[in-house]
Amino acid sequence: MRVGVLVSGSGSILSALIQSGIDICVVVSDRPCLGLDVARSNAIATELVERKSYGGDFDRNDYTSRVVEKLLNYKVELVAMAGFMTILGEPIFDAFPNKVLNTHPALLPSFKGAHAVEASLAAGVKLSGCTVHIATPQVDAGPILAQEAVPVFENDTPASLHERIKEVERRLYPKCILEISQGGHVL
Ligand code: GAR
Repeated sequence: MRVGVLVSGSGSILSALIQSGIDICVVVSDRPCLGLDVARSNAIATELVERKSYGGDFDRNDYTSRVVEKLLNYKVELVAMAGFMTILGEPIFDAFPNKVLNTHPALLPSFKGAHAVEASLAAGVKLSGCTVHIATPQVDAGPILAQEAVPVFENDTPASLHERIKEVERRLYPKCILEISQGGHVL
């Protein structure tokens, strides 16, 4: 399966996906970021669909359609969000029904949203982890494919806890995507 990966950040999850041998045909980003450099240094095509507005005038469906257009240009069959920080609208779910995946740095359905690690620490939970799920128009709410827990320590900072979670994501997310792309996991 031809996989398109969406990134916004450092691209460490993307690196793990690349190393696992997944057939990544394009990496799309909403901003200039290290993730694009990771793709380029692995000779993977990149597309920057820059998000210009974070205010009330942001046209989510129009933006999403522009991302979808790029993915379709590369004949993408499965979309993997790997730290993509723009919530996408209906057009991507119409174009790729049940074929948009996400990894989230918390044990869903707890701690949805963009600040899951900070919120987990603030709540004082003793266990956190990551969730790989099918993305739907409802943010961080789609069917769960896999989860794995990590401990939260007294002296954790958002960075230390997030890194412990990412260590799991770098193993679990490629495993799920490979299972799906090799037909072992029916979507
Ligand atoms: C990952 O922890 C991923 O779960 C999270 O961003 C990180 C990306 O790390 N995604 C979200 O928070 C989505 N709401 P990376 O840039 O090092 O690959």
